[in-house]
Amino acid sequence: MNFIYKTVFLLLLVTSGVSAVAEPSPNLGNTPMESDEVFKDFGGKPGLVAIMDDFMVNLVADPRTKPYFDNEKQTYIKAMLVEQMCELMNGGCTYPGRDMKSSHTGLKINRAAFNALVEDFQLAMDKHDVPFRSQNKLLAKLAPMYRMIEEK
Ligand code: HEM
Repeated sequence: MNFIYKTVFLLLLVTSGVSAVAEPSPNLGNTPMESDEVFKDFGGKPGLVAIMDDFMVNLVADPRTKPYFDNEKQTYIKAMLVEQMCELMNGGCTYPGRDMKSSHTGLKINRAAFNALVEDFQLAMDKHDVPFRSQNKLLAKLAPMYRMIEEK
């Protein structure tokens, strides 16, 4: 009898683990990476938090992006970016925020603003010595989100 309980428990463990990997959270914007090597290159969650802090400093210092971010929502946006990037890099997080379309509606984001944000993100990743290969793997997950974010 004890054996049956143990087997059922193990089966539950295995199947719940499998579904967690297979199902990205619904508002994530893209599917997560298969491995967590890139996440390790970002320094795990503490590294990612530090990078997002510098990213937001860059966004507010950059005249091209400042008008979008110069508000009281910075802390919330940073926290959401950490969870979103962590899940995309298969770091064991679940992004709890809004989807990319509804969270950017009304902001009138065009290609120039999008490229400026990507540059500011690259500067933050450079500052924290994230290898280019890993930077590019994450950027490749973000690039297709442009079509959900832009407004003509
Ligand atoms: C791939 C590119 C981008 C990603 C992954 C991204 C991600 C996010 C996330 C996760 C949030 C929080 C969502 C929520 O409300 O729960 C957010 C909000 C926001 N994003 Fe982006 N974003 C991107 C591009 C941009 C660009 C290019 C701009 C402007 C230059 C921008 C400006 C904003 C602003 C202002 C908010 C707060 C909106 C509000 O609630 O008032 N984002 N973004």
